[in-house]
Amino acid sequence: MISAAAKSLKGGHLVAFPTETVYGLGADATNGEAITKIYKAKGRPANHPLIVHIASMESMDMWARDIAGYAIKLARDFWPGPMTLVLKRTELAKDFITGGQGTVGIRVPAQPIAMSLLKEFQSLGGKGIAAPSANRFGAVSPTTANAVAQELLPYLDINNDLILDGGPCLVGVESTIIDCTKDLPHILRLGAITKEIIEQSTGLQVIDAVANTEIRVSGSLESHYSPKAQVVLDQVPTSGDGYIALVDNQTPPGVIRLASPNSIEQYARDLYAALREADARALPKVVVKQPQGDGLAEAIRDRLKRAAN
Ligand code: TXA
Ligand code: MG
Repeated sequence: MISAAAKSLKGGHLVAFPTETVYGLGADATNGEAITKIYKAKGRPANHPLIVHIASMESMDMWARDIAGYAIKLARDFWPGPMTLVLKRTELAKDFITGGQGTVGIRVPAQPIAMSLLKEFQSLGGKGIAAPSANRFGAVSPTTANAVAQELLPYLDINNDLILDGGPCLVGVESTIIDCTKDLPHILRLGAITKEIIEQSTGLQVIDAVANTEIRVSGSLESHYSPKAQVVLDQVPTSGDGYIALVDNQTPPGVIRLASPNSIEQYARDLYAALREADARALPKVVVKQPQGDGLAEAIRDRLKRAAN
């Protein structure tokens, strides 16, 4: 299956695959026509850059140049893992990957199927797999193969494109994106690799630039990660509402409990599936009680704010 998928990618087709964060919709990052298929399947504007997934940090130099020391440190400490580094691009990173920007986003995912696929693709001469989250533009990222099929099957070429099933994603929210082109690391998207973790690793002050609109990050659009159901934050749910909250919150009568995570990590893992479940049940409204605290809880609140917009 993996070798068929790698061949399919090499042939210019799309392969959706699991990562530890969310499922990605992959294509050969050097093949402009294949990348066009990603934009079409997602219904995504073509000026939004894509993350290039590579098998190991040894391939970084192919895609990026003038890499800051702290970026190397981060790569050593957290790859494979839920972290994307934005770096100055080389010639290999064409405008169709970078959205015409001078930078490229790179990530080594920590998921066995993703890793096998990347290695197999590399053995066929592949240089990297571009993969945005495998959802339609603006929708909730998929965390199961089933969710990918629901999102994208009508937009895939059923004779050539593939969806690999690796079960539910272990992290559940998208990778932390760190702009490493400046003197200090700038966080562009919050995720499981938190500000504190980055500061500890680099010994540098980390700038929270999530609201920065200068660089195009579609995940930082104000409305994103949205189900069809109306998402309302921190209200008391009433009969007929969906409800997502940590397990110690009770479910009022008539309220449809969609998730009861028992930790922040579990909350991140369950959130997107629960939002999908709201739509599967055609609920008009889902009330979400936000988790408190920093780190991953902050990343969850960031997604919820946009889902509620
Ligand atoms: O966890 C993840 O990162 C998942 C899995 C599949 O790896 N991928 C993902 O891709 O979330 P996507 O395309 O849905 O979100 C990636 C974000 C986009 O908002 C994009 O604009 C931003 O990364 N991005 C990519 N390259 C960039 C660059 N050179 N500069 C700034 N932002 C960039
Ligand atoms: Mg996305």
